[in-house]
Amino acid sequence: MKMDINAFFRQATIRICSTLDIQTAMERSFQFIKDFLPVNRMSLDLLDPDRNVLHMVASVPSMKAFGQIIALPEEGRDDRAFHWASNEKIRIDNLTDPEPSTLRLLKRLGLSSQVSLIFMRLEIEGNRIGQLVLAANGVDRFTEEHARLLQLLNEPFAIAMSNALKHQEVLKLQDMLADDNRYLQRQLQEISGAEIIGADFGLKSIMDMVRQVAPIDSPVLLLGETGVGKEVLANAIHQLSQRREGPMITVNCGAIPDTLLDSELFGHEKGAFTGAVSQKRGRFERAHTGTIFLDEIGELPLQAQVRLLRVLQNREIERVGGTQAIPVDIRIISATHKNLEEMITGGQFREDLWFRLNVFPIMIPPLRQRKEDIPALVHHFIERKAREIKIKERPRLVPGVIDRLIAYNWPGNIRELENMVERALIQHRGGDLLIDSPSPSSRTPGSPAESTSNAGPMWSLDEVTGDHIQKALKLAKGKINGPAGAAELLKIHPNTLRKKMDRLAIAYGKKR
Ligand SMILES: Nc1ncnc2c1ncn2[C@@H]1O[C@H](COP(=O)(O)OP(=O)(O)OP(=O)(O)O)[C@@H](O)[C@H]1O
Ligand SMILES: [Mg+2]
Repeated sequence: MKMDINAFFRQATIRICSTLDIQTAMERSFQFIKDFLPVNRMSLDLLDPDRNVLHMVASVPSMKAFGQIIALPEEGRDDRAFHWASNEKIRIDNLTDPEPSTLRLLKRLGLSSQVSLIFMRLEIEGNRIGQLVLAANGVDRFTEEHARLLQLLNEPFAIAMSNALKHQEVLKLQDMLADDNRYLQRQLQEISGAEIIGADFGLKSIMDMVRQVAPIDSPVLLLGETGVGKEVLANAIHQLSQRREGPMITVNCGAIPDTLLDSELFGHEKGAFTGAVSQKRGRFERAHTGTIFLDEIGELPLQAQVRLLRVLQNREIERVGGTQAIPVDIRIISATHKNLEEMITGGQFREDLWFRLNVFPIMIPPLRQRKEDIPALVHHFIERKAREIKIKERPRLVPGVIDRLIAYNWPGNIRELENMVERALIQHRGGDLLIDSPSPSSRTPGSPAESTSNAGPMWSLDEVTGDHIQKALKLAKGKINGPAGAAELLKIHPNTLRKKMDRLAIAYGKKR
């Protein structure tokens, strides 16, 4: 058949490179090639260099019916047809007297017992990646002219194969990442304690608000002192929303240096500034279809507040050094322990931004205003921390500990309680567990004496008693009995004092 070599090359290449799906590319090129070369079957084999075997990755007619890819050993097999002996680029061979196993294979492949074969080695930058095999029923069907023609297509086939494999790899990685992400999100949920203690007690009204606002997309502003559980509630809102399958991205606005803030939040294009070696997606982009949690929003510098406001208004971001606006679909939850209204008056926080964020404010009460949750929290943290530090048995508490913890006023809120339990468990050496809250005299604000005289929070009788006993113990240098002992100072019987100390979980003697 007389033909124009250039046209052949062009037409074949267009078909080979027409798609990233290697099977489709093979089918298209087969349809074209079969008018120029005798061919009943064409297959593409990938070399696995570690195991030195060839895997059939695509084949025409399709191998799908066979269910799985056939692996052919590269070396050491008797079958001449599959044995690649030399460094030659292309090889013509005949298979006339196949072994029973090869015969079975030929049959499965829809070929007759005598076949002509042409093998073409595929390389990328000198590295062998696989081979293309053409098979035609009957002997001596391929000529040197056929080999030359096929050799023209060596590069296109090699490139197409390599691109298809890379593409597959990317898809695989993408799947793996998505899977990792789901797994991490689940873990995060477990770590951050999907369990909200006090949801039916001290936090009941708060949880009602959370359930109310979670399904709608409105911004939520979480307010409350440090350690009250703002992040826990932000997670709960995300989990209870329709965006729960999407990402939950947290930004600690106070923790990112000013100079990096823009690039962290909005991303940057390659070369946008020194050090921007590659393109980077910002947190807003990553939060697309999910929730972004802007923690410590009160720490956001004024300039960044302006840009944040723009994102909230336009629902799109621009990467640093970029020219294109990227639309983002996000739900915004922000949190702060600061008084934003005061900051607005002081000119440190933009009022227009505050209006945008403050659509649905939730004020989380400090722990001292929901002390009924303390026993459950203590047990929750003992359970969790014991699991974390791998303590098998859960120690019982020294009698009176809970009362004493309830007497304390918890400036650091739940985090402080959590740390205290953890410390106690780490220091625990058998017996009942003593959770040692700071002596009441180190409490803020003020001391019991002051609190009774001014309008500050009222101290309980136990708090005052505990505080007073501690003072006496200090004066008596820990001594309870005898002259200048704490009992004498307090004008009570030493045994009565010990009982009171037990109840208030104040350690004495060796335990101190
Ligand atoms: N209701 C709760 N049930 C169980 N654990 C809680 C609860 N609230 C808070 N915690 C735990 O207390 C710790 C502090 O909570 P979180 O980080 O949410 O507080 P925060 O208000 O964000 O504090 P900060 O202002 O310091 O950032 C966390 O370890 C969290 O798991
Ligand atoms: Mg926090």
